[in-house]
Amino acid sequence: MIVPVLKITDTVKPIQVEAPVSGAQNRFRQLWAIDPSLRFLNHGSYGAVPREVTAYRASLLERMERDAVRFYKVDLEKLMDEWRIVLSDFVGCQPYDMAPMPNATVAIATVLHNTQWNVGDEVVLTDHEYMSGVNELRRLETSHGVKLVFAPVEYPMRDAAQVRHAVLERLTNKTKMVMVSQITSATSLIFPVEEIVKECNRRGIECLVDGTHAVGQMPVNVRAMNPTYFVGSGHKWLSSPKGTGFLYVAPHKQEGFRPLALSSRGHKIRPERALFLRDFDYVGTDDYTKILSMTAAIRFFETVVDGGWKTTMDANHRLVMQGRDLLVKRLANFGFAASAPDAANGTMTTLILPEPAGDLAKRGTQYDDALQDRLVEMHQCVIPIWRLSCDNRRVLRISGQLYNTIEEYAALADALEEELTMEARGQMDGQMSRVVA
Ligand SMILES: Cc1ncc(COP(=O)(O)O)c(C=O)c1O
Repeated sequence: MIVPVLKITDTVKPIQVEAPVSGAQNRFRQLWAIDPSLRFLNHGSYGAVPREVTAYRASLLERMERDAVRFYKVDLEKLMDEWRIVLSDFVGCQPYDMAPMPNATVAIATVLHNTQWNVGDEVVLTDHEYMSGVNELRRLETSHGVKLVFAPVEYPMRDAAQVRHAVLERLTNKTKMVMVSQITSATSLIFPVEEIVKECNRRGIECLVDGTHAVGQMPVNVRAMNPTYFVGSGHKWLSSPKGTGFLYVAPHKQEGFRPLALSSRGHKIRPERALFLRDFDYVGTDDYTKILSMTAAIRFFETVVDGGWKTTMDANHRLVMQGRDLLVKRLANFGFAASAPDAANGTMTTLILPEPAGDLAKRGTQYDDALQDRLVEMHQCVIPIWRLSCDNRRVLRISGQLYNTIEEYAALADALEEELTMEARGQMDGQMSRVVA
């Protein structure tokens, strides 16, 4: 017997998004398990899973543990097909062109290792691409003689034309592939991938679109974009459990396209189901309840928010732009300025930070920068602070999600003012009081 899977509550009255969102009014926060003492302004790194989605996953785990053999042998393929139908509707493609993935890193590596490389083949990529893809390409540089051609994109960004121009002018008859983000990670920029893909298709160049950050930040339509490959993430802006993603492979590339590791089912002949589907349905024993819960996350925003995904994306964009304006106004004397036109940001944005004075630049960190440690430890503000891989400038990134409030960005401005003033003087006030987990 199959235990019915819990449905996301249909009885909940959709919650209206208020603008500007203030702490007292925010009714979304309680729907997430986030530590109430934190100003959690970093949905972009690992997302945050709503309680209802966690409950749905728990029901799937229960179902799996009642009869694990049935779950893996009989139910899994059917559940994967349901997953394909819901997700493909969300990102605008055919269900059977999608493969489940544990994350974008593996999805990108799967594409790169399914490509026939010849010595001297060139891959054009911007200098804002995420490092996991760049690292995998560097490996191919050594093993297969692939050449990386970087298209520099000026930052702060003026307009999208600059990105299109930088990429397209580097295409040659040696270009085998273009790898480009729809929204960049450290710099939060929306890139004009549609126009880049169009030109690649015209010239017969493969295009790998990294949509890790785009899915859930902005409407995505893979069919209209028509790339060779599209990589998406579940655990960022879809708010699915950690360890979820997907890969779209254009139909003409699916034959012979296989996972990085073949499962014990990989040799079986089953004419009724394409090998592309079977290979990725099951890649060995794993906890597939994570990926299957992506459908619940999509449904959560559709049903819990009055106006569904469109309202969610619009409200999050507005909120993060308000947060940025507040920071820029309050911290103008530290050089804070918008780094892109509003239309080039989705639901996160990045700001360039000043350098600390004296020896403070050499402080150790548990995260990526000592200032990030200070913000968490002393001010309960969770945001990432990094150095850009293109030119080593120090930046911070803020996200906006339904559970955030404008007061949280104001508290971040207070915290930054205090910390940057001390940094400018080359001082550090007090020590960390506890180890940050
Ligand atoms: C643009 C981009 N691509 C790929 C990745 C890798 O994602 P994951 O950690 O899910 O593998 C990230 C992660 O932040 C990203 O921002």
